[in-house]
Amino acid sequence: MKEQLENIYNSAKSDIEKAESINDIDAIRLRYLSRKGEFNSIKKGLKDLSDEDKRTIGALANKITQDLELLLKEKYDIFYQKELNEKLQHDRIDITLSGKYVSQGKVHPLTQTTKEIVSIFQNLGFSVVSSELSPEVETEYYNFDMLNVPKDHPARDVQDTFYVKDMPNVILRSQTSGAQIHVMETQKPPIKVISPGRVYRNENINARKNNFFHQIEGLYVDKDITFGDLKGVMNEFIRLYFGSARPTRFRSSFFPFTEPSAEIDVQCIMCQGKGCKICSGTGWLEILGAGMVDVNVLKGVGIDPDVYSGFAFGMGVERLAMLKYAIDDIRLFFNNDKRFLEQF
Ligand code: DAH
Repeated sequence: MKEQLENIYNSAKSDIEKAESINDIDAIRLRYLSRKGEFNSIKKGLKDLSDEDKRTIGALANKITQDLELLLKEKYDIFYQKELNEKLQHDRIDITLSGKYVSQGKVHPLTQTTKEIVSIFQNLGFSVVSSELSPEVETEYYNFDMLNVPKDHPARDVQDTFYVKDMPNVILRSQTSGAQIHVMETQKPPIKVISPGRVYRNENINARKNNFFHQIEGLYVDKDITFGDLKGVMNEFIRLYFGSARPTRFRSSFFPFTEPSAEIDVQCIMCQGKGCKICSGTGWLEILGAGMVDVNVLKGVGIDPDVYSGFAFGMGVERLAMLKYAIDDIRLFFNNDKRFLEQF
């Protein structure tokens, strides 16, 4: 047994001498000294020896183990130092260099504005329509037909609306108003909802117009809803969004899906009503269209206009954000210039 131990010791020693890397050292340690290593399998035989032999052979075994550990460590340290030096040579780090600045992302101003508007209406008792009821790829049926828009209305023209190629009647929605129909088809009054989303129009892009933008649609249908309710909700919204100081006006207007209809203007923040290129010299900026839901629309979705009435509204998110933050070009929202986006 003594001989066996010495043989293993010698062979381990010569392996250590030949070792060329930390990997070799690890392999040697595994081969000789690990629990399943050669050395241990011999040590297991100790239990069959006489007490006397156990003591001498046991002591020898321990000594050999310690010697080998020592040899391994010496060699390991040499290689470690060598590899470290090589690494330091290659990957020189200039600790005097300043660190890299990692800029933090911000919530996009349009997302911020949408959230703010949504939360105002939620506080007024409106809930947000689920996204299946507010698709961006729509049919003419929801975007126009059911909203009482005549077949020959200019908004249906390809000059104004994007049609999906080879799919008759399929369009990119030009307004969020179609969500009104989806909701009224699936819910019974009382209905009190808003629906934010992206809309598309075939526009020439300039400071005021982009070929996609964002709207927030609103719909309130119940018994005894009047134009007074519409005015009350709109005024409250404007007060909460702009603060009471901002002058507004209700202008009578026309939409096929509301009767009567109104457009609501807010005084231009850029020129304080004096007239500038942003407000086309009028001193006012239209922020939303609204009105009492047309009897034909209610009938179309099977809601009895003799029992129920309602109001609807649709506002442009970009416009509301531009007014609030005095932004004079809609394209800034979509250029993704960090110098712009970081200001919010
Ligand atoms: N959909 C209209 C537009 O895009 C805005 C609008 C006007 C929405 C009146 C409404 C409404 O719900 O009642 O210009």
